[in-house]
Amino acid sequence: MEHTGPVDVIRWLDPPAVALLDQTRLPAEETEITCRTADELIGAIRRLAVRGAPLLGIAGAYGVALAARTEDDVPAAAKRLADARPTAVNLALGVRRALAAWERTGPAGALEAARALAREEAEASARMAAHGLAALPGGPLRLLTHCNTGALAAGGDGTALAVVLAAHRAGRLRHLWIDETRPLFQGARLTAWEAERAGLPYSVLPDSAAGSLFAAGLVDAVLVGADRVAADGSVANKVGTYPLAVLARHHGVPFIVVAPTTTVDPGTPTGAGIVIERRPAREVTHPGGTAVAPEGADAYNPAFDVTPPELVTAFVSERGITQPVSTGSLRRLPQTHHPD
Ligand code: MRU
Repeated sequence: MEHTGPVDVIRWLDPPAVALLDQTRLPAEETEITCRTADELIGAIRRLAVRGAPLLGIAGAYGVALAARTEDDVPAAAKRLADARPTAVNLALGVRRALAAWERTGPAGALEAARALAREEAEASARMAAHGLAALPGGPLRLLTHCNTGALAAGGDGTALAVVLAAHRAGRLRHLWIDETRPLFQGARLTAWEAERAGLPYSVLPDSAAGSLFAAGLVDAVLVGADRVAADGSVANKVGTYPLAVLARHHGVPFIVVAPTTTVDPGTPTGAGIVIERRPAREVTHPGGTAVAPEGADAYNPAFDVTPPELVTAFVSERGITQPVSTGSLRRLPQTHHPD
């Protein structure tokens, strides 16, 4: 069954609280959790109940609005919120924007800043969908995506998934390949849930099957989002993205990154400067709580990897298509979203 209504991923409540669709429970349960303090929201961010770069920006801004109504030391709460996860630049940006509004006009200003950011991200999503469609090759498309980049991760229809949905509405989507995205399965759990709701033709694949999919000639383009784009065009995104970029280049398939300009960080000159979040070993050794490795096994668990700009065929933002991706071409991209 197709559900076309919007997903309520984050809501402001009165008395002051932030309600979140608990993404850790999907697809089994659609449960909302209520954060009544900034620290409860920080806990939800850390355990990925709310996630995805642009949505983290919106959550951070609502967190400041919450702190403005519930705490004495709002700047200290804002700092804790901004530091909750290190890689997605949107989180600190959303926090800074709401904090600046609070400094000017108090709690009402912070809340309005959060609402404005949510509106702007939804508008950016619609523009990215249109530009992204123009960046895709012609003909019916078999698209490969990684992690979750839909309404669960950003404003509106999301980033890369908004382009997939636009291709579907235009009658151009032949199939969506969804990497399961270990270790936390954002592809299998969340993107497949969104694909199901939208009635897309899709299959979930183990991340390790992507190579054979390319080798069989079954991928026409790769579409992914980003958590931070450095000034030189290096793209930090969910771990497993970089191998897809290498595969795409080897097989002559376009590798397209879709992200709003709020994800572009002119303050990080190159990919080497992007802080990559390291997550607990247990996420790898105990997926879904079941042991798949000996008790006490260590694990390498970076949450993100960095794709160099030369492997990115095109960068799609709400401002249009940037191609090729380089320091010079990104500098020409107007940064309309950065806060005062
Ligand atoms: O660890 P997560 O689930 O927050 O990681 C999310 C991603 O890597 C997304 O691909 C990225 O934020 C872009 S989505 C709009």
